[in-house]
Amino acid sequence: MAAEPERPGADADAAFGGLTALAAESADDLDRVVDSLLDQLSSDERLAMMSGDLDFWPGMVAMLSGGYGHTPYVGGAIERIGYPGVRFCDGPRGVTLGASTCFPVAMARGATWDPWLEERVGMVIGGEARVQGANLVGSVCVNLLYHPAGGRAQETYGEDPCHVGELGAAAVRGLQRHVVACVKHFALNNMENARFQVDVHAEPRVLHEVYLRHFKQCVDAGAGCVMSAYNSVNGHWCGQNRTLLTDILKHDWGFEGFVVTDWIFGIRDADEAANAGLDIEMPFRMHYARDLPALVETGRVAQAQVDDAARRLLRTLLHAAATTVLPSDGDLVAGWAHRALAREVAQRSMVLLRNEPVDGAPTLPLPAGVRRLAVIGPLADRANTGDLGSSAVRPPEVTTPLAGLRAGFGGEVVHDVGEDRAAAARVAAAADAAVVVVGYTSADEGEYTDVSANPELWSLFPPLDPDDPTAAKLSAALQSPARAGRGGDRARLVLHDDDEALLLAVAAAQPRTIAVLVTGSAVVTERWREHVPAVVVAWYSGMEGGHALADLLVGRVNPSGRLPCAFPVDEADLPPFDRDAHHVEYGLFHGQQHHDHTGRRPAFPLGWGLSYSEFRYSAPSVVVRDDHLEVGATVENVGPNDGIDVVQCYASAPDSAVERPPRWLVGFRPTTIAAGASERVTLRVPTDRLAHWDGDRGGFVVEPTRYDLVVAPHAEAPGVGGSADLTARR
Ligand code: BGC
Repeated sequence: MAAEPERPGADADAAFGGLTALAAESADDLDRVVDSLLDQLSSDERLAMMSGDLDFWPGMVAMLSGGYGHTPYVGGAIERIGYPGVRFCDGPRGVTLGASTCFPVAMARGATWDPWLEERVGMVIGGEARVQGANLVGSVCVNLLYHPAGGRAQETYGEDPCHVGELGAAAVRGLQRHVVACVKHFALNNMENARFQVDVHAEPRVLHEVYLRHFKQCVDAGAGCVMSAYNSVNGHWCGQNRTLLTDILKHDWGFEGFVVTDWIFGIRDADEAANAGLDIEMPFRMHYARDLPALVETGRVAQAQVDDAARRLLRTLLHAAATTVLPSDGDLVAGWAHRALAREVAQRSMVLLRNEPVDGAPTLPLPAGVRRLAVIGPLADRANTGDLGSSAVRPPEVTTPLAGLRAGFGGEVVHDVGEDRAAAARVAAAADAAVVVVGYTSADEGEYTDVSANPELWSLFPPLDPDDPTAAKLSAALQSPARAGRGGDRARLVLHDDDEALLLAVAAAQPRTIAVLVTGSAVVTERWREHVPAVVVAWYSGMEGGHALADLLVGRVNPSGRLPCAFPVDEADLPPFDRDAHHVEYGLFHGQQHHDHTGRRPAFPLGWGLSYSEFRYSAPSVVVRDDHLEVGATVENVGPNDGIDVVQCYASAPDSAVERPPRWLVGFRPTTIAAGASERVTLRVPTDRLAHWDGDRGGFVVEPTRYDLVVAPHAEAPGVGGSADLTARR
């Protein structure tokens, strides 16, 4: 484990000495400095740049006993030339170092549909990482939600490539004001329990059109680092997959940054990995440290391959050191401004799924007559910010739903944990309204760190001598209770039976009952939904989530979150998901598009979400420009409250000669509209968004045909629209 820096940020910022100034002016300057640095490095040093700094077993002990991710993982540092090496921290819901700001999880942020908000989150995460000594941050997880049971659903933004790409690219831009952004996990890492064993097969069209295009968007936004995935794709482990890492990423997309392995089990063979274009193996000295010297010596791995990796690492980190800024305020970590952003994001992310009238008025916002509020449920007073895997953040405090409502409701709050349903129902009946907080925790879903199903992984490393003192420490660390209760893929999409029974019991006793769902992705709500008049999806809402929930329920904030994934009626309506699979085949359709394709409607479509206002769409327009379309509509807020509407644009190609999704998302934008006012919203839709992958040409093609474009509030709304006639295009 790396030593703590003497002052925050010291390690990362002392980097490269005065050379950063020389490299700052132009790409030519940068290349000149990189060349001169490379010239000074011996071949051993170049090889050393390609591995983590600690030896494997001591590194494992430090990682397991010192707490995961407490200090940056350092790889390849060469003090002699001021090269800091990569100094990596996670992650997707905030910085895992220290006591940092914990944001709502990425899936929640996906529900804001707001790239600018995500860019601000990226800036904060990047800044907090930088002042705590990191220069590379694994925040940008853009693996599509293939199925809502996917254990790491919470770490990504949603199911749709256009939506995920916009948010991922925004995160990259924000992070890279302060650090290098690491985009992960390349690629098709959409299931958790099987991640070390599964081979995902996808035809080129499926690969490029559905599973890779949002990664490319992040690369185009300038991402300096891509992390390979654990699983294999089309028969090759991702860390050793030359098609993915070299042919597609580096050649076709022109990626100039470096590729890092996922941690520990990221590769299995140094020869294949190096020749595939994997630049640095992390977090320890493992296969590369052991095997690369001989592989280079014998010519199995060309020196040019090593030099290319060293150059990419040097260039990316030097460029970052020259162009990023150190946040000026060292006390900003989890400071008030960052917490305010965490609260704003939580407010924006919660989705009002259902809001039926009680006594002639919508259940929410809580009317003035509600003076006594029952807050019920096992998760009402639990700090529950997401899983306990690599993305776990340790914020200085967490405002639970109960604490938020106590602070922000204004009347009397009574609490019942809900263990005894009859007692909880009595508490609810004696109040004017009941809020029931149920859902999942890290025990139900999240990163799955148990590798016992794949014992072959350990045999990749030299066995540990049982007399080595490290052995005892390791076995103690492996048995530590902190390692227990990791989630993995969610077993079911319905709530726990107890939660459902609690909701039904409370709703039977209290007509004004609000279900608050804590979850990383879709929940099947069929067995209880009709009995509960209001449902709010709160996700894992971060350290300020309780305050945000209160803001929404009392009406200080008008809900504007929209579902980043469809919520099905039944798991059987989704593509199959085998948690223990060794082989899976991905097709063109999943999520909303699968529902559209099969005709089995979801309970709530992609993009769905209610407001305390109502928006009407009219006067559509479609204008064809050279490389984009301008799709417009007038949106009128016909309700009583100012609000934010997420305007979405979907395309279809009814006369297409190839199989297309019935409708696909091509653009979106959140827009604030005052009560009674109208806004003309024009979305700029790049023509590329209409393209499909043409296997014969080996590239994206915009078919010369007619495209219908609708502006709509969600994926199944008729919306208003027009057509773009591209039949004359070649
Ligand atoms: C996870 C990555 C993470 C890495 C480093 C791995 O187990 O899959 O998402 O960035 O650990 O913490």
